[in-house]
Amino acid sequence: MGIQFKHVSYSYPGFKTSYDAIKDISLEIEGQGEFIAIVGQTGSGKSTLVQHMNALLLPGSGTVEVFGFTLPPGKKQKINHLRQRVGLVFQFPEYQLFEETVIKDIMFGPKNFKKSDEDANLSAKKAALKVGLSEELFEKSPFRISGGQMRRVAIAGILAMEPEVLVLDEPTRGLDPIGRNELMAVFKSLHEDENKTIILISHDMDLVAAYAKRVIVMDEGKIVFDGTKEDLFAHPSFDRFHLDLPTPLKIMRHLEKTLKIPYRAVYDYDGLLGYLKEVGHE
Ligand SMILES: Nc1ncnc2c1ncn2[C@@H]1O[C@H](COP(=O)(O)OP(=O)(O)OP(=O)(O)O)[C@@H](O)[C@H]1O
Ligand SMILES: [Mg+2]
Repeated sequence: MGIQFKHVSYSYPGFKTSYDAIKDISLEIEGQGEFIAIVGQTGSGKSTLVQHMNALLLPGSGTVEVFGFTLPPGKKQKINHLRQRVGLVFQFPEYQLFEETVIKDIMFGPKNFKKSDEDANLSAKKAALKVGLSEELFEKSPFRISGGQMRRVAIAGILAMEPEVLVLDEPTRGLDPIGRNELMAVFKSLHEDENKTIILISHDMDLVAAYAKRVIVMDEGKIVFDGTKEDLFAHPSFDRFHLDLPTPLKIMRHLEKTLKIPYRAVYDYDGLLGYLKEVGHE
């Protein structure tokens, strides 16, 4: 009982009626244990799709079910609780920081969901440490810390609500490689240690290959592929998806062509290195 889309379409108001940002989307996501990447060209509907997962957008037609709750909701049904269960981190979330101090900003969500100051503070501290914010930053203004730290504050603000599903819209965009890897390690640990479902929108196919288990490819508002990353990168018409190949697979192809090393699908550098050691010892 996670998230279920049934024939969902959505058009932004003001658009010609024939134009749908997402079209006839049907989809099932488990409430636990998934690591899904959503990829596709700019404007393909990725952000529109995920905003339906916590009722920020309501379907124009079709239905979305989130932990057994159907959207669009009937009259008088409150949907706020969904925002706590499905945490959504926007593109460039640091633009939404607004409190006087880092810790107050992270506490905002849990307080909003009726936690006492004391409980909210505890959840906020736990979340802050999880994303690697050190305690000496807690009382600083969120506008006087680095861009990478601001991003972490925004993500901690969502984690502090202890969502079951975490949706991340290009969380590593604009970060340097170290910041990017540190943040990905946080998501990996939420997935592996706490069994949370992680849904990650990304243009970075290296990250997708290294972390995701399942990949959903969007094109012009439609899902054109939904399956394992193994199946995606071995797909006979992969070119049709207009996606880049992950670097380890590109290297593998090059080695096959130049050194005649038999191709094997590897999804990160450790995998590549392990394989090369293996064939080197033969
Ligand atoms: N607030 C909005 N008002 C009107 N049209 C919008 C709005 N947001 C998105 N759109 C349009 O809806 C379509 C899908 O946009 P969406 O932002 O979901 O794509 P995306 O896949 O997230 O793109 P990107 O990779 O650039 O983030 C695009 O054609 C876009 O121009
Ligand atoms: Mg987007």
